[in-house]
Amino acid sequence: MVSASPSPAGIHDLSFATTEFVLPHTALAAYNGTEIGKYHVGIGQQAMSVPAADEDIVTMGAAAAAPIVSRHGTDRIRTVVFATESSIDQAKSAGVYVHSLLGMPSATRVVELKQACYGATAALQFALGLVRRDPAQQVLVIASDVSKYDLDSPGEATQGAAAVAMLVGAEPALVRIEEPSGLFTADVMDFWRPNYRETALVDGQESITAYLQAVQGAWKDYQEQGGRGLESFDAFCYHQPFTKMAYKAHRHLLNCCGHVIDEAQIARAIGQTTAYNRVVGNSYTASLYLALAALLDDAGDLSGRSVGFLSYGSGSVAEFFAGTVVPGYQAHLRTAAHRQAISRRQPVDYARYRELHGLSFPPDGADHPTPPQTTGPFRLSGLRDHKRVYERR
Ligand code: CAA
Repeated sequence: MVSASPSPAGIHDLSFATTEFVLPHTALAAYNGTEIGKYHVGIGQQAMSVPAADEDIVTMGAAAAAPIVSRHGTDRIRTVVFATESSIDQAKSAGVYVHSLLGMPSATRVVELKQACYGATAALQFALGLVRRDPAQQVLVIASDVSKYDLDSPGEATQGAAAVAMLVGAEPALVRIEEPSGLFTADVMDFWRPNYRETALVDGQESITAYLQAVQGAWKDYQEQGGRGLESFDAFCYHQPFTKMAYKAHRHLLNCCGHVIDEAQIARAIGQTTAYNRVVGNSYTASLYLALAALLDDAGDLSGRSVGFLSYGSGSVAEFFAGTVVPGYQAHLRTAAHRQAISRRQPVDYARYRELHGLSFPPDGADHPTPPQTTGPFRLSGLRDHKRVYERR
């Protein structure tokens, strides 16, 4: 039996932003001699977003959130939760920079959350708790990440970058989030990034196995908590480090539930969630919500339909939960802006991408201005006295 939520709460608005540049996988394949089918079919990726020298999780997060603040104002937003695993500071929340860039009121609580790619789901659940405590309040959740692996490593093909901003509130216009949730935590070293490294470390095959075990564990707990049956869902949004992973995960879930594997049925359940991730690449904690954006933007009328969400963060924590698409949601979508965020990116060649990949600020406290490369609404203008300096255009 599905337990009733104390009051309907969920995602009232959703907006995403990505980077200035994009590297097509054809360029990577031409450089490293990989047969392109491995990227296009084997992992299901066409391209990956590449940040300019003056972009980071803050500029993307602000660009994703600005349209939400402009549409709804800030009067009801008393909390901003910034979820990331590519944090720019060990102490200060990236959300405070965004709060400032967006001119939000001082009477706001701002915090940063981390648990690999699961962070945004923790942020969403905490936001729902705040909204249920006081339905007059709204919470701005921002998920923003730059996925970066070593050059010439197997992970290189699964990089990317994006930010998703969600306004969480009572009587949401897009998706009502239900209780209960299915939870799973296991201490595994499948993917991690020590503080001294710019790029993540990963055991690729172990990470896939850990993800699948987490799907099974979160689903088992979801059932034990009285969740819906598998057949009551119309679509499934999975964390997508590469889009093929969503198919692997769903196949595994069906197997665990004793269902006969029907590839056409899997394609129907997953296919419309992959359009953005396929060309953006891994955006870590934003990726699950990019999958939701693609589903809402690309599928036909989903009014009243149930969506299953599986959030996975290496290390590892996973959560399965359900949402119902709110009738009339289509009037609130940002489909044109989302498509523009993808199509406005400038393709770079492999040499330029490699140069951008190698950029980092020296730790000497000197003045390090960044070259103006992004044409987005916010830019990181440099590092001065160990302080990141941002500007709004
Ligand atoms: N045509 C079609 N398919 C091809 C092909 C071709 N020419 N050549 C290879 N393939 C297929 C392979 O058969 C394989 O398919 P299956 O997985 O279905 O067997 C697929 O392409 C990938 O091939 P490999 O396994 O040989 O690829 P790889 O060794 O280069 O590693 C990877 C792939 C493990 C995903 C690697 O890119 C990686 O380590 N990525 C980072 C880690 C990651 O994304 N893990 C996901 C789970 S962890 C997580 O979700 C958290 C997170 O965000 C990091």
